[in-house]
Amino acid sequence: MEDAGRQAHWENVYTTKRETEVSWFQQSPAPSFELIVQAGAVSNSAIIDIGGGASRLVDKLVEQGFEDVTVLDLSGAALAAARRRLGTGAERVNWIVADATTWDPVKPYDIWHDRAAFHFLTDASDRAAYIARLGRGLKIGGHAIIATFALDGPEKCSGLPVARYDSASLGQALGTTFKLVHTQRHEHATPWDARQIFQFSIFRREG
Ligand SMILES: C[S@@+](CC[C@H](N)C(=O)[O-])C[C@H]1O[C@@H](n2cnc3c(N)ncnc32)[C@H](O)[C@@H]1O
Repeated sequence: MEDAGRQAHWENVYTTKRETEVSWFQQSPAPSFELIVQAGAVSNSAIIDIGGGASRLVDKLVEQGFEDVTVLDLSGAALAAARRRLGTGAERVNWIVADATTWDPVKPYDIWHDRAAFHFLTDASDRAAYIARLGRGLKIGGHAIIATFALDGPEKCSGLPVARYDSASLGQALGTTFKLVHTQRHEHATPWDARQIFQFSIFRREG
């Protein structure tokens, strides 16, 4: 999908639907938060949530005392919703409206988290552009936590086709500088109680 069409899609989603009207809504971002801790995050770790949207992960990170948190998303409306919810806590977060396939990271992060953004990249050129930014935006020794629909997960998300992965195929997509350190399946219940299987994986950047 072209950048402009992609952004229009997501702005439309976040301006027409309430938080609990999207399939990916989670009251508690527990799987992501637990893996961030498992990856060794400490209070001054630089953490970025790629395609964070209006997710409550940022609330949890701020509440738990993480001091260097960034949320990046294509949709300004999504980030505005998260900022409103956080109130004064939003001032402790860096907010970036950008496309993860064209953004230029200005600093490297310790933790790169992505739940359900990478899987929308169905074109090889978009994946390559994202992975190039991951290579620049993650420290050597840093961890990428990427959650996509699993091989037996849904074929679409938000009406868009997705690429589904297990840890092996995701590792292959990322390349040999990323070493798999942990993977788990997770059954997500949508707000209307449909079940979606996600694959969460942690990769360490080795070089
Ligand atoms: C399915 S939602 C998941 C949102 C959030 N990660 C969560 O777990 O609640 C996908 C998010 O990725 C964002 N997104 C999609 N493609 C993107 C891209 N190329 N760059 C940045 N954000 C993107 C969308 O705006 C949307 O907020």
